[in-house]
Amino acid sequence: MSAVEAKDFLGLLPTSSQIERDGELTVGGCRLSDLAKEFGTPLWVIDESNLRSQAQRFNGTLQALWPKSRAVFASKAYPCTAVYEVMAQEGLGVDVAGGGELALALKGGVDPALMVQHGNAKTEAELSMAVSAGVGTIVIDNFDDIDRLERIVSDEQGVLIRVVPGVRGDTHDAISTGQEGSKFGLHRADAERAIARLNNSDRLRLDGLHMHIGSQILETEPFEAAVEALASFGEFDVYDLGGGLGVRYTYGDHPPTPEEWVGALVSAAKKFLPHHARLLIEPGRAMVAQSGITLYRVTTIKHGTPTFVGVDGGMADNLDVSLYGQRFEAAVVNRVAGHDVVDLVGRHCESGDRLIEGISLNAPVVGDVVVVAATGAYTYTMQNNYNGALKPAVVFVSDGQAHLRVRRETYDDFFLRDVASAVRK
Ligand code: LLP
Repeated sequence: MSAVEAKDFLGLLPTSSQIERDGELTVGGCRLSDLAKEFGTPLWVIDESNLRSQAQRFNGTLQALWPKSRAVFASKAYPCTAVYEVMAQEGLGVDVAGGGELALALKGGVDPALMVQHGNAKTEAELSMAVSAGVGTIVIDNFDDIDRLERIVSDEQGVLIRVVPGVRGDTHDAISTGQEGSKFGLHRADAERAIARLNNSDRLRLDGLHMHIGSQILETEPFEAAVEALASFGEFDVYDLGGGLGVRYTYGDHPPTPEEWVGALVSAAKKFLPHHARLLIEPGRAMVAQSGITLYRVTTIKHGTPTFVGVDGGMADNLDVSLYGQRFEAAVVNRVAGHDVVDLVGRHCESGDRLIEGISLNAPVVGDVVVVAATGAYTYTMQNNYNGALKPAVVFVSDGQAHLRVRRETYDDFFLRDVASAVRK
């Protein structure tokens, strides 16, 4: 790696990141090898100032361009109480998909009136929980949602209907949701029936429509087309335009900035939606991805073609590689500029557990700490215990201070839900 490429790596990290004189990377003023030593590895590090500034960028830009509006964090991207706390403090709403996220959001101090409840197969229990918690908006995804809510709600409940705009963004099939045939939302004829039914409901107040066309979408055009399609379902007081803005995982990714994305959505809204309406947006990935990094320790190196650099984590703490073929970038924390092309591999019992194929690292040796950039979105969410892996700790850093916000799992945690057998008790 040349000096320019070291600068490129910094460009994928939180904006506070620097390379010290001795070559060591810092994030939020904390030396990464010190964090690895103090908190162990694998370790998730979140730059708190970067996270807060992303929240302000989305919410501030939206509110400057469209006064009756709010950004709602799609909390599935990082459902941990510390992140909910930040979103609540920054004045954002929160989207919760299911009872678990609702419980975490309440614990994190989010005002239930600012919550948006999602789910394509919500249970009666989840809907009851949302109604009794006072969740401001429940998004209707099917007619069973309406049947259940009409049974549960005694007072009045604000709802939106999720519609299928019929727009396909350029992304992985598994995370594309706006096209005909999607399992999410109501297609036109059903949406029209649902609108008619809710207009006659005495307890469910139909505020408007919701759409979400998918995730990791790297251009603005599909969003604009979807806003236009949304307008064809009729005039309402509220439009929730969903999330989906892609992020920069690799040097070759050039997503729109939050300002560009919000600007494009609002321009389309000005063109196609009623000007009195309230607008919501639901960014998840782009809110948190760049604020997060993962630290691993190199446990073994197998020289050959390719050379495998094995670390103490893998697909238990980053499923995006195996599920969607997502590429990431990485560096040794105290030798960022590097040129040995290796495969960075995880420790799990699958050949598919390759964190990054063909990555340039600088003369990696056993014991090095390796940092993978832009792991703030969905990695925490989809962590698992494959091969008995302990779920990693989460540390927030800012101004040279590091605070543990989620402790590392212990083997004792494994036994907490097990019920001892009658024979062996
Ligand atoms: N709103 C709704 C209704 C959603 O379903 C989602 C994401 C979002 C907003 C936020 O989308 P974002 O801004 O994050 O693109 N597990 C996958 C991602 C699945 C996204 C699901 N829905 C991954 O690891 O990449």
